[in-house]
Amino acid sequence: MTSKSRLLVTRNFPLDVMARIRGTYDAVTNDDDHPMGMAEILKLSQDVDAILCAGTEAINSELISALPERVKMIATFSVGYDHIDVPAAAVRGIRLSNTPDVLTDATADVALLCLLGAARMAHMSAGTLRAGGWTRWEPNQFLGVHVTGKRLGILGMGRIGQAVARRAQGFDMQIHYHNRRKIEAPGLENAIFHETADSFLPVCDFLSINCPLSAETKYFVNDDSISKMPDRTVIVNTARGGVVEDAALIRALKSGKVAAAGLDVFENEPALNKDYLELDNLFVLPHIGSATVETRNAMGFMCLDNLDAFFAGKSLPNEIKAP
Ligand code: DGY
Repeated sequence: MTSKSRLLVTRNFPLDVMARIRGTYDAVTNDDDHPMGMAEILKLSQDVDAILCAGTEAINSELISALPERVKMIATFSVGYDHIDVPAAAVRGIRLSNTPDVLTDATADVALLCLLGAARMAHMSAGTLRAGGWTRWEPNQFLGVHVTGKRLGILGMGRIGQAVARRAQGFDMQIHYHNRRKIEAPGLENAIFHETADSFLPVCDFLSINCPLSAETKYFVNDDSISKMPDRTVIVNTARGGVVEDAALIRALKSGKVAAAGLDVFENEPALNKDYLELDNLFVLPHIGSATVETRNAMGFMCLDNLDAFFAGKSLPNEIKAP
């Protein structure tokens, strides 16, 4: 009988995913799902062959260089991998995989939820109702920003950006995008490519952020870029909090330069900047982009497909390659 490979599983993933993990691997698990810091990850990694982590763990160069030689692969339960130092893993010869595609639709759905929730003041109107403050219908009450026919600027026209564009076309929005390159994608022939931020920002009646967090995109939304957007723009972020400088967005939401924001992600998650809480024009969610049973199962199974492929000596279907 061949012995099972040893796997450190840093989070308590969905039930069906955990069942498959336990069936295939000799797993070190985190049954109460407590946050694992570097010291604990290192301690539990001493006799494992691979790690299955999530976007919540910082797999930085310090951790990677301290991992024992035996650890040969890290699979992340996320499409984004800004929490992993990819070059440091390459230096150590550690293979990496992520979970593209399977969360595209769920995340794009939440982008539209944020867009509509922000534009139509869902937080304020629903909150007033729930607090017992809605006493009558009024012609000038809860007035939001009209969506139909507006220009939607998409920052990052990868899989999720394209799925957002397709959905937004259903609301008759005109699609503009800023991306490293022009894309050719069925159904998006009318989407307008902007090579520079200076050409892109002035058309953003709405801005949807769908790019990875990188040195290039960090704080893309700041005082300067907001000043170049149309007055009363609506900003939506379902990508990574670090693309938006919270302090700048808060200033713009307070002044009304930005009419509303819909955020599924923000800086320093899960600690939301307290100044946001005073704003009625913010629709905010706790990073639920991929949070459907189907999607989270598919993400977990994709991680396991990659780990299984690794241990079978096959190529990884979703390998993260060093730049
Ligand atoms: C992702 O997959 O990157 C989501 O943000 C969940 O972490």
